[in-house]
Amino acid sequence: MEVMWGRDGVWLIVVVVGFLYSICEGGSTSSFLRNDYLSLDMPLDSDVFRVPPGYNAPQQVHITQGDHLGKSVIISWITPDEPGSSTVVYWAQDTRLKRQAHGFFVTYRFFNYTSAYIHHCTIENLKFDTKYYYEVGIGNTTRQLWFKTPPPPGPDVPYTFGLIGDLGQTYDSNTTLTHYEESPTKGDAILFVGDLSYADDYPFHDNVRWDTWGRFIERVAAYQPWIWTAGNHEIDFAPQLGEARPFKPYTNRYHVPYKASGSTSPLWYSIKRASAYIIVMSSYSAFGKYTPQYKWVEKELPKVNRSETPWLIVLMHGPMYSSYENHYMEGESFRVMYEKWFVEYKVDVVFAGHVHAYERSERVSNIAYNIVNGLCRPLNDESAPMYITIGDGGNLEGLATAMTEPQPRYSAYREASFGHGILDIKNRSHAYFSWNRNQDGYAVEADSVWLHNKYWTSLEHASLATQRSNNLQQTATQ
Ligand SMILES: *[C@@H]1O[C@H](CO)[C@@H](O)[C@H](O)[C@H]1NC(C)=O
Ligand SMILES: *[C@@H]1O[C@H](CO)[C@@H](O)[C@H](O)[C@H]1NC(C)=O
Ligand SMILES: *[C@@H]1O[C@H](CO)[C@@H](O)[C@H](O)[C@H]1NC(C)=O
Ligand SMILES: *[C@@H]1O[C@H](CO)[C@@H](O)[C@H](O)[C@H]1NC(C)=O
Ligand SMILES: *[C@@H]1O[C@H](CO)[C@@H](O)[C@H](O)[C@H]1NC(C)=O
Ligand SMILES: [Fe+2]
Repeated sequence: MEVMWGRDGVWLIVVVVGFLYSICEGGSTSSFLRNDYLSLDMPLDSDVFRVPPGYNAPQQVHITQGDHLGKSVIISWITPDEPGSSTVVYWAQDTRLKRQAHGFFVTYRFFNYTSAYIHHCTIENLKFDTKYYYEVGIGNTTRQLWFKTPPPPGPDVPYTFGLIGDLGQTYDSNTTLTHYEESPTKGDAILFVGDLSYADDYPFHDNVRWDTWGRFIERVAAYQPWIWTAGNHEIDFAPQLGEARPFKPYTNRYHVPYKASGSTSPLWYSIKRASAYIIVMSSYSAFGKYTPQYKWVEKELPKVNRSETPWLIVLMHGPMYSSYENHYMEGESFRVMYEKWFVEYKVDVVFAGHVHAYERSERVSNIAYNIVNGLCRPLNDESAPMYITIGDGGNLEGLATAMTEPQPRYSAYREASFGHGILDIKNRSHAYFSWNRNQDGYAVEADSVWLHNKYWTSLEHASLATQRSNNLQQTATQ
């Protein structure tokens, strides 16, 4: 559809739209009314924390992707009474052939807490797009569970990710997880943007709350991979308790395939999954120039082949764009370091948590500033990622309700309610993001947006522009 306008007509529209835009600060702030109290943690004897019956029964079973491509799975679980076996028995749904893989277990101490036996076992060379059954607890109480491997990476492979952040273990956390499970758009894997158990909010960082959290999420995490990002509540830095090694409980309990992407730390790594390339970063590790994380990201971004995995997604805990008062500007130094690259490499979407609320940005960038030129405001930028804060899982610290006013232009929608997101990738050019609020029905989308792939749509625009200029040249020569 090409509509022909006179040159003056076009200018008039540009001026009017520009004027409307300049008098209208920002997007919309939801007027949804909510209870403003702190959320309560579920008590230790809650149903969701029940220990599975049987001698030395495996508990806290959770899985994550085990390699770069999606053909391996890391299976983790905890046995309470004795080490027991670290072996996993597994088989594809359509075969009788049972295979075995042998893992290992670790234990750790934190102040006066001693962990039980934490097993990790990677099962490899799986078939893509296949349901597998697996058994853990061989030799004592054996439990059988299952998962599905993703389809092979490819540009038009549909895939659905759930987005959860700052979950904790309150009644609201349980509602968030239930809404994710009951969503009519079934998620295949969860992108988790950090802050898992909030055990560090308890006296002496009571690590029993890491165990209850592991049992709470098992009902989802044993059946589909959670892609982990570390948040500030994973640091567990407590020199006053003799605990000065950051991330100790987290890195013992939640393993990730960081070596497969050439990373030297489990706190930053990447995976391919279906049509997505996911880069996980660490807001709470050194990220300045020359640091290991910086050097890894610098080599990582140019590696992404958008013809194979069109959707480039970055996960981190602290948001680079957030207009809430809570944690205001905490992501600023990270933005200064990395925003330029995110625009240059056309990252599609950056998901973060930390702020206990929901917010979606316009496509803006703020990379022109050089200290002396005064260009220090975010501008519309079609190459820029969309920034989505989804730190609204429901932890005991409650919601971040105070917002900066007026709502800045870069903020498209914001609301302080608990909930979760779904990123539904349709093909190389289209993905649909929706946000569900816990007070609504499972199928209700309180906010939603179509994402147009930044790599493929910019190619389309470029080829349209080429066609147009070819047409113009033809017209001129006729
Ligand atoms: C750890 O120490 C605290 C403070 O002395 C105490 O309340 C708690 O019961 C201890 N926990 C264990 C497992 O010993
Ligand atoms: C539990 O399993 C381990 C490993 O298979 C075995 O060595 C141990 O004897 C079992 N314990 C009991 C009480 O069956
Ligand atoms: C958590 O949610 C599940 C599923 O909706 C429910 O069965 C369970 O009773 C809930 N537990 C608590 C403590 O609210
Ligand atoms: C990128 O991926 C496509 C599709 O899988 C493949 O044909 C192409 O060779 C890859 N390019 C590079 C540079 O690896
Ligand atoms: C990609 O998906 C969108 C949304 O479902 C659809 O409108 C579009 O036609 C699809 N593109 C291709 C090339 O199939
Ligand atoms: Fe948090």
